[in-house]
Amino acid sequence: MANTNITKIKSRWILDSRGNPTVETDVYCGDIWARAVVPSGASTGEAEALELRDGGKAFLGKGVMKAVQNVNDILAQKLQKFDVLDQEKIDAEMIAIDGSDNKGNLGANAILSVSLASARLAAKLSNKPLYQYIYEIAYKKTTERFLIPIPQSNVLNGGKHAGSNLSIQEFMILPVGAKNFSHAVQMVAETYQFLKKILTEKYGKSSINVGDEGGFAPNLQTTREALDIIIAAIENAGYTPGLDFVLGLDAAASEFHHNGLYNIDGKKLNEPELVEYFLQLVEEYPLKNIEDPFNEESFEAFAELTRKVRDVNIVVDDLTVTNVKRLQKAINIGAGNSLLLKVNQIGTLTEAISAAMLSMKNYYSVVVSHRSGETCDNFISDLAVGLCNGQTKIGAPCRSDRNSKYNQLLRIEEELNMKATFPKTFKDWRNFI
Ligand code: PGA
Ligand code: ZN
Repeated sequence: MANTNITKIKSRWILDSRGNPTVETDVYCGDIWARAVVPSGASTGEAEALELRDGGKAFLGKGVMKAVQNVNDILAQKLQKFDVLDQEKIDAEMIAIDGSDNKGNLGANAILSVSLASARLAAKLSNKPLYQYIYEIAYKKTTERFLIPIPQSNVLNGGKHAGSNLSIQEFMILPVGAKNFSHAVQMVAETYQFLKKILTEKYGKSSINVGDEGGFAPNLQTTREALDIIIAAIENAGYTPGLDFVLGLDAAASEFHHNGLYNIDGKKLNEPELVEYFLQLVEEYPLKNIEDPFNEESFEAFAELTRKVRDVNIVVDDLTVTNVKRLQKAINIGAGNSLLLKVNQIGTLTEAISAAMLSMKNYYSVVVSHRSGETCDNFISDLAVGLCNGQTKIGAPCRSDRNSKYNQLLRIEEELNMKATFPKTFKDWRNFI
């Protein structure tokens, strides 16, 4: 292979799906180059790596010029001649240059843009699909077979992602009865359209406005009201709840937690009451996935719910923020059994892969996830296939920033053809890895 050293890095700001600036970076090796754009959260965890914003008047403080300059003025120079095929070294160097615990000097947005663009360029130079390159750096071996993830599709948005009274942030459908990914997308897309019909008939036109992740954002009052409508949509689409689809929630509970109490469905619940509340929902509905059911420091409450449910994904997101130290703490006390993996929570591909590996080694499943603020960059689709973790959370089948992820997975499945396995159960990654 010819020279694979980095020759140039160029960063700029562009707009994300919420109309806020975000960092886009191109990494070059001679004439060959690759690009990556970073996403951005709204219901962010306190312990996430720092997303550097400019403050001041421009863009209401959300400018990213400092992060862009940190790439163009610092990283572009320091990473000259680094071998783009050595992802770990590039990421370690950026972490060292930053020198802080949370990437607060250069900005996790600056660092991540270079990290992801470097991986894309390395895949390109190696003549490999990105998912295959990621598999090889994650597992340090090659493979012929890949696991395509089941999508967690957020069809109804609440919490910080919508202007409604629903406390729960995300109401998801998981097409566990699908025979492959394209079938899964068809099932999800059909159900989404039936949901639109039901909402319009029952609540009028304004109820089908969409939230940040492309799900509808009707002004419903309670969690059960939302779940009932989703069940009706699944049935109207000709599918069987519990068999073809199971349900998922992302409570993002830190957002409705105040002074030790949780404001939900017009009530104020303490932690033991909230544990009971979720257990009741699991009894009443085919609910198999609950993310961030408690405040982001309530490790014990997560552990309590995890002990009490059988066969339900208790997903840790704000609790662990893709950070191996926090994840190890969760593992030690049995808080959750599934990791939400968001690359920008930690800021480099290498560290995100480490979090995935630590999870799987400890029998936590991994859900590769988007953020509520996205672009049409679909790196995470390749990441989910490359990690063979079997699950991905990419919003509703609506809005180009979300469909970009679905569509990339459709292409990958087609390309892999017989080499693609679609999970039969949530836990299929255990047999696969
Ligand atoms: P965020 O939401 O990107 O706004 O944090 C997604 C999530 O909480 O999973
Ligand atoms: Zn979440």
